[in-house]
Amino acid sequence: MRLDRFLSGQTAGSRRDAVQAIRHGAVAVNGIAVRDPAKHIDPETDAVTMQGKEIRYETQRYFLMHKPAGVITASRDSKQKTVLDLLKPEDHFPDIAPVGRLDMDTAGLLLLTDDGKLAHRLISPAHHIPKYYMVWLRDPFAEAVIPQFRAGIFLREGDSEEQCLPAECVKLDDRIALLELREGKYHQVKRMFAAAGNHVEHLLRVQFGGLFLPPDLPKNAYTQIFQKEINILCGDSSIFEIAPKCMYNYSSYWINETE
Ligand code: URA
Repeated sequence: MRLDRFLSGQTAGSRRDAVQAIRHGAVAVNGIAVRDPAKHIDPETDAVTMQGKEIRYETQRYFLMHKPAGVITASRDSKQKTVLDLLKPEDHFPDIAPVGRLDMDTAGLLLLTDDGKLAHRLISPAHHIPKYYMVWLRDPFAEAVIPQFRAGIFLREGDSEEQCLPAECVKLDDRIALLELREGKYHQVKRMFAAAGNHVEHLLRVQFGGLFLPPDLPKNAYTQIFQKEINILCGDSSIFEIAPKCMYNYSSYWINETE
């Protein structure tokens, strides 16, 4: 593959940007500066750097987005702003789509990818990838919800009821909880707390599998992640390890949101 084509495919810049960077001597292949944009490289084995930074060869894209409230989780919509509208034009790869969905008024971590196989695996109920939600409640957190959620709370569905999978919940503050879900029913967090007699005022997804919402990632922004992080995403995690970090990282979230 030509070096300029490799670079424009693997970075946010255009082909012209890649050519310029190469001509200016900013690009090295296997440690040696290369000034010929047409130089042929093997993306699988050659190590390419730009301004000293490694450019890894990725055939699929994974973006970790900080979804704000007020944006819908869909690929396109004729009226509402969607999470895909938050992507830069150069990141609109064919088939890129959100993995699962967050309600319009829910904020937090959202993965977007064009890796359909991974997306399928992540949302498949069989894999039970845990998702963690920080929940701001209208009424004080009642310890009684912990055993209720752990036993699998029943949600009303028209005339019938459906039981949730056992879920762990931790009190973070008087009106703030952290909930771990291993499934994704419609409005599940809101309905679980409603079934327990409380009301969810705000919802922030702070973690998906082993990947957490970077506290310094601004709302609307996203960052590209790579295979290594995908492995973390699919790895194991525990609510009891996550809980202590949440208040420090995100407790002011909705205070700032309404400023
Ligand atoms: N549960 C909800 O109620 N809303 C979300 O967006 C995600 C989980």
